Amino acid sequence: MIHFTDLRAGYQGRSITPSLTGSLAAGSLTAITGENGCGKSTLLKTLAGLISPSAGHFCIHSSEIALLPQQQSLDRTFPLTVRDIVMMGCWQQRTWYGRLPSAARRRVEQALAITDITAIADYPLSHLSGGQLQRTLFSRMWLQPSDVWLLDEPFTGVDEGTIARLMSLTQQVAAAGKTVVMVLHDDHLVQRYFDIQVHLTAQAAQWTTPRTSHPRPLAQVI
Ligand SMILES: Nc1ncnc2c1ncn2[C@@H]1O[C@H](COP(=O)(O)OP(=O)(O)OP(=O)(O)O)[C@@H](O)[C@H]1O
Ligand SMILES: [Mg+2]
Repeated sequence: MIHFTDLRAGYQGRSITPSLTGSLAAGSLTAITGENGCGKSTLLKTLAGLISPSAGHFCIHSSEIALLPQQQSLDRTFPLTVRDIVMMGCWQQRTWYGRLPSAARRRVEQALAITDITAIADYPLSHLSGGQLQRTLFSRMWLQPSDVWLLDEPFTGVDEGTIARLMSLTQQVAAAGKTVVMVLHDDHLVQRYFDIQVHLTAQAAQWTTPRTSHPRPLAQVI
C-alpha cells in the first residue's frame, strides 16, 4: 500500500528524518517511534501530502488519506460541536444544498456510538477534555472513505481504558484492510499491537516487527 524509496522528510529541502526504504502492506499496523524532534510528525505530514519529500520518494496506492494531527496543532476555538466534527468525515456525501442523506446521518450516529461520545455530541470543541477530543477525531476518521490512517500521537493525555478501546477500533479497521501508521511513544503499546515498528534516529531508520519478534515461548503455550 505504501512504498518508500530513499525517502527523507524535512522542510525547505533540508532533511530531518533519516532515509526510509521499504513497504507497508495493506492491513498492516505500523508504529513510528523516536525522540522528540526526530521528524515523526514531519514524516506523517509528508505522507499526507502536506509537504514535499526533501529527498527520495514514496508512493501510496490510495486517493484518500485520513490524518489525525498531533494535538497541539489543532485550533480549539472553532465554534463547532462534537457532531459537527464527526460529520466532516463524510462531508463528500452532502447534497448540493449541504444536507447529509439519511444513510450518512445514521453512519454519523454510529460513529459517535463506536467511541462512546453520543452523550457529548452537542458539546462545543472548546469544552472537550483531551480524551474526549481524541475520541471525536477517531470517530471522524472512522467515517472517512480512506484506505490509509495516519495518526500522530493520538493517545497523549488519554486514559488506559480509552486507549484500549481506540486501539481495538484501530485493529478492526486494519483487519478490514486499512493501512495504519501511528506515531507514539509507548513501547508497551508497540509490542502489543503493532506489526511493524520504524524507529527513527538521526543516523538511520530501524525497521522491526514487534509482534513477531517476541513469539510466545512454545513451552508456555503448552
Ligand atoms: N514548519 C517547520 N519549518 C521548519 N522546521 C520545522 C517546522 N516544523 C517543525 N520543524 C522542525 O523539524 C524538526 C522535527 O519536528 P517534528 O515535529 O517532526 O518532530 P517530532 O519527531 O514529531 O517530535 P515530537 O516527538 O516532539 O512530536 C524539529 O527540529 C522542528 O523544530
Ligand atoms: Mg510530533
